[in-house]
Amino acid sequence: MARRRDLTTVIEYDRVGGPDVLDVRSVALAPPGPGEVTVEVITAGLNHIDGFIREGREETWSEDPWPRRSGSDFAGIVVAVGSDVRGFARGAEVVGHVRSGAQATFLNVPAGALVRKPPRLGWESAGGLFLAGATALDTLDELRVAAGDVLVVSAAAGGVGSIEAQVAKHLGATVIGTCGDRNFDYLRQLGIKPVRYGEGMVDRIRAAAGRAPVTAMIDNFGQEGSGLAEELGVPASRYRSSEDRREMEIRLLHDDPVSTARGTALLERLCRLAESRAFTLLVSGYYPLEEVAEAYSDLGRMHARGKVILGTHPVTTFRTLKARELFEAAS
Ligand SMILES: NC(=O)c1ccc[n+]([C@@H]2O[C@H](COP(=O)([O-])OP(=O)(O)OC[C@H]3O[C@@H](n4cnc5c(N)ncnc54)[C@H](OP(=O)(O)O)[C@@H]3O)[C@@H](O)[C@H]2O)c1
Repeated sequence: MARRRDLTTVIEYDRVGGPDVLDVRSVALAPPGPGEVTVEVITAGLNHIDGFIREGREETWSEDPWPRRSGSDFAGIVVAVGSDVRGFARGAEVVGHVRSGAQATFLNVPAGALVRKPPRLGWESAGGLFLAGATALDTLDELRVAAGDVLVVSAAAGGVGSIEAQVAKHLGATVIGTCGDRNFDYLRQLGIKPVRYGEGMVDRIRAAAGRAPVTAMIDNFGQEGSGLAEELGVPASRYRSSEDRREMEIRLLHDDPVSTARGTALLERLCRLAESRAFTLLVSGYYPLEEVAEAYSDLGRMHARGKVILGTHPVTTFRTLKARELFEAAS
């Protein structure tokens, strides 16, 4: 892997397709331009939308030139500073976002797309914070989730759902989260009421809510959502579908100055919330950068608890069984 600052290892692809089109390449990196810094990436996140884009399912990306690069979330260390940059010196530990290309060893980014990494926030979680976290905060803001709400979150143990559920709880809401049996203990530990997804879910949600009406619902997973919300009596204005979420993620990936500043403001709030332990982002799988295709295949199996993350400095490539694999082997 490239460790010189004038070279970077990037994840690129030349045609639409699944994780197998992803290539690990070493390319030249120019010094940072005005307003930019070079970040040595320590960790970078994976999101389902990267796959939708790579597979050619997102119109917004259809005119992007080839080769294209992968990933929007990263955390790292500033190693070079361009002219006109204030607030970030060499050695600063940062969390950031880009439209694409975060999965790399070194990256030139506008300083306006960075926030300082709180010292107590681990590198693994920091690298996966942006898109899942900003989507979660944006959604909770839009729904104005607050104390007194009874909120249903689908896929509550996943990357986005686990942040939504914990932050909603932090805001004072009662949270009911859908998940498989494997995640019951995890959600209970967070003070979230777990409900198994699948047939009969409405009755189970009602039972979990007790006498209180369900007041808002976020469907991350994208099945049965609007019908379920209607049956539960959730007003349309307080329901967000998986399609709403897709549009929100696309907006967050725009890199015009206004969108970048908005994304950075959300990232700043996320860092403060993570620092104060309002939520903890678990890492479900941690892969060396070169094993990016395997990492996406893992994400695609839909059973991540928290985020799947790439590391540029893995301590070891030795594989241990994950808790969820043990659960699968036992059931
Ligand atoms: N429509 C869109 O455009 C769009 C955009 C982004 C994401 N999504 C979808 O939203 C989902 C969650 O997103 P994420 O980023 O948080 O992904 P993620 O981290 O991969 O979510 C994984 C979680 O999904 C849960 N899950 C699996 N099957 C489920 C089901 N039938 N019903 C409810 N939950 C289920 C899993 O729980 P267990 O392990 O306990 O089964 C796991 O915790 C993903 O399925 C993703 O494809 C859709």
